[in-house]
Amino acid sequence: MDVLSDISSLRERLKRESSVSLVPTMGGLHDGHLSLVHLARMKADCVVTSIFVNRLQFSPTEDFDRYPRALADDCKLLEQWGTSVVFAPSEHTLYPVLQEFMVEPPPLANSLEGEFRPGFFRGVATVVLKLFNIVQPQIAVFGKKDYQQLHLVRELVRQFNYSLEIVAGETVRAPDNLALSSRNRYLTPETRAEAARLYQVLAQVKCQIEKGNTCFDDLERNATGILFEHGWKTDYISVRHAHTLAPAHEGDEDMVVLGAAQLRGTRLIDNVELHLES
Ligand code: PAF
Repeated sequence: MDVLSDISSLRERLKRESSVSLVPTMGGLHDGHLSLVHLARMKADCVVTSIFVNRLQFSPTEDFDRYPRALADDCKLLEQWGTSVVFAPSEHTLYPVLQEFMVEPPPLANSLEGEFRPGFFRGVATVVLKLFNIVQPQIAVFGKKDYQQLHLVRELVRQFNYSLEIVAGETVRAPDNLALSSRNRYLTPETRAEAARLYQVLAQVKCQIEKGNTCFDDLERNATGILFEHGWKTDYISVRHAHTLAPAHEGDEDMVVLGAAQLRGTRLIDNVELHLES
């Protein structure tokens, strides 16, 4: 496995590869990333995993400084998992000058995550576009855990005519169904014991919809209430159309219940998909 930090060495290394798949990450790797690398390996001969904590997608009040950085440990895992190349650029390599050109995402980027993290998807779309241009993969793998991010990356590829297949990885969960996330490291033993409730309330909303309840507002309100009773501050619980992420309507078959909430200072997000037979 090669660990490279500059763009010219990476391009030189990738010259000999006929098919490349990219797994973009910010490091702090866990088994969720492993499943993405696994998918990438099935799709191409050469797997590039990028590790870059992208300042552009963090607001000044967010956790950029304390975001887990463990390059040596991450590289050990990536070697075991069969990554061919780790691309771990410095900030200066990726942003040698002030990044003034930015990718302006569509209005959807201002709702859900975007409502609570202004500028987040602008930063994500800009770095993802740069990574696509640098690595020039045929395949890129993103996790469904960041469902809105996956949706917007697909739109970016479509609207900018990239010849690139986006592959979606299923969310990997702990035995109690907590979605794996690098930010789970911020949880204390007490908050870790409570953290799976976010998944539970989303799964309950899914279950109610499957039973025929289409009062989505009520379901969202009830879920928020349950979280509140257990010490959470909910940013959103929202039932959306799975393919457009527009608010769900009665008659929709493919839906996704998305949620984000804070538990004593740690913000967690999750989602569950559902399909109603017509
Ligand atoms: O999902 C992430 O880890 C990041 O948002 C990404 C896609 C690597 C861009 O920085």
